[in-house]
Amino acid sequence: MTQHSRAKYKPSGKLQFGIFFQGVNSGTIWKAAESGSQTDFESFRRIAQTAERGLFAAFFLGEGLRLREHLGRPHELDVAGRPDAQTMLAALAAVTSNIGLVATQNTTYNDPADLAHRLSSLDLLSGGRAAWNIVTTDNAWTGANFRRGGYLDHADRYTQAEAFVETAKQIWDSHDPAAGGWRRVVHEGQHYTVDVTPRLPRSAQYRPVLFQAGDSPEGRDFAARQADVIFSAHPKLDDALDFRRDIVERTLNAGRGANDVKIMPASEFILAATPEEARDKKAWVRSLQIGPQQAIAYLEQFWGRELGGYDPDGPLPEIDPVVEETSETRGSGFHGAKARQLADQWRAEAKEKGLSIRQFVSAKTSRVDATFNGSYTEVADRLVEYARTGAVDGFNISPWLIPTGLDDIVNHLVPALQERGVYPTGYAGCTLRENLGLSTPERPGTDSADVVAEPSAARA
Ligand SMILES: Cc1cc2nc3c(=O)[nH]c(=O)nc-3n(C[C@H](O)[C@H](O)[C@H](O)COP(=O)(O)O)c2cc1C
Repeated sequence: MTQHSRAKYKPSGKLQFGIFFQGVNSGTIWKAAESGSQTDFESFRRIAQTAERGLFAAFFLGEGLRLREHLGRPHELDVAGRPDAQTMLAALAAVTSNIGLVATQNTTYNDPADLAHRLSSLDLLSGGRAAWNIVTTDNAWTGANFRRGGYLDHADRYTQAEAFVETAKQIWDSHDPAAGGWRRVVHEGQHYTVDVTPRLPRSAQYRPVLFQAGDSPEGRDFAARQADVIFSAHPKLDDALDFRRDIVERTLNAGRGANDVKIMPASEFILAATPEEARDKKAWVRSLQIGPQQAIAYLEQFWGRELGGYDPDGPLPEIDPVVEETSETRGSGFHGAKARQLADQWRAEAKEKGLSIRQFVSAKTSRVDATFNGSYTEVADRLVEYARTGAVDGFNISPWLIPTGLDDIVNHLVPALQERGVYPTGYAGCTLRENLGLSTPERPGTDSADVVAEPSAARA
């Protein structure tokens, strides 16, 4: 390990914002008059352009490859069905100039040569603004869409992901202008075999920026070896500091520099001019996020049965959950044999606190740690502490309303942070890599003599 790679972590003292356009989950309100549609390009265009006005580093789309289902039916209370991320980001590339375009894409059901080619294409046509958020979906209900069922054991996901990402990197590294062309990439592995000679040149930022989302020790080590940015689930200050320490240690152990991996946790901002207004706004947002039907549907996921006969303003159901897994589409909330224990705990908790079903579900789903609630100046002061300590490099913000949910952040919070010297006052450059302050990868040396010359069209 080099001297440089053991150097201590140094906080940059700055924060960056990204927008995490969730589309699904009750966190995004789609029933307000202004919400628009989750398949309408306008919903995406307006919010991406607002983010760019606020100098956001990235526009980030999640991925779910199976229609969200609930008790065997499409989950109509959440948004069921969202457009493909890369298609949407390609369209957004045409109406934005600086913001990064981050596509969540899993390593389990894609193929590396194909995905590397598509991400390169997005990177080239956006002028070096593409990124890949690497996820490792292994659940059976997604796999069923690919005729593979569960496909990978939990333990194998990151072995497969690592081989996948290494292959994609080799494909992006294969362009060797000094040698006048591309080198052939060959990988023979347990899950796929690749023999490809890529044909796309490098983008303005060399290759797409790599984000990673996944929190297990294996996931963290994988990120420490491969990623530029972690999309983390640790926004609370003390937790974020612990996470930073852990990632720095893992990054150093992987032979990289202490500052090489950026961290941007998921977060939600509910802000207003005064603390009182902000509190009222939060109560209003929560009432829209969890209505009576959402509250019942949330419990149904864990109970594994219809609970439509229960009053959302009454106590939690006295009947027990179904313990056997009824189908793979029961929902991600299913806790198998622990369902009954969980129901007992929840009933006791709700009784003790005097909470109705709706109040209980609202409390359970309110993302307490991830929510910044307060006046613009209060929240700006809190964020300064994150910048000063280096707990995070920024936040990936889920707006609770589309397409106006970023307006108050851009109009009020961003200027307050700029006044405090912790937020950019302009884009550092044209590429996402420049805007995130990441260094350009170095092309690894290769002893392969195989070089396929540039076609004349590419040279012209
Ligand atoms: C903040 C965060 C966001 C994630 N977003 C997605 C997503 O959009 N699509 C997806 O299939 N998985 C997503 N995942 C799931 C992870 O890729 C991974 O499959 C899951 O966290 C289990 O891996 P782990 O055991 O390493 O945490 C996300 C995980 C985290 C922590």
